[in-house]
Amino acid sequence: MNKIDDILSRYREGSHENLIPILQDVQEAEGYLTESAIVRIGGFLRMSTTKIYGLATFYDQFRFIPAGRVHMRICNGTTCFINGSGAVVTAVREALGIEPGQTTRDGRFSYELTACQGGCNEGPVVCTGENYHTRVRPEDVPELVSKLKALADTR
Ligand code: FES
Repeated sequence: MNKIDDILSRYREGSHENLIPILQDVQEAEGYLTESAIVRIGGFLRMSTTKIYGLATFYDQFRFIPAGRVHMRICNGTTCFINGSGAVVTAVREALGIEPGQTTRDGRFSYELTACQGGCNEGPVVCTGENYHTRVRPEDVPELVSKLKALADTR
């Protein structure tokens, strides 16, 4: 049984209400949603792939291409937002030349905006795997990206 069949075995066939949890589980297992996964899920839920894509693209959390070797999770929760996460996102966008959910051409970076990551007192927070970067300011971003480039090159 492959990973997707294993995930689908936990759900009831045709249960449209489980689409989002299934997509979340598949993305967790595979890193992103492949076309073949969407087709398989569509068959299982008896939904058209067009409808699944339509719903999945509505949510920022879903990826349709592999993440970068370094994936940045930028907190966009209320407290981080008040503390300037919007300017951090702008600085990251400019430094990497990509939008949230995209991956740089060299495969080094991707990033997403998240809900509260539980470190509000130290926001804005940027998480890269197990590392938390706290009180990140827009002017810190070029140096952070430079350090993370070196990390990406070890992967
Ligand atoms: S709002 Fe960013 S850590 Fe809570």
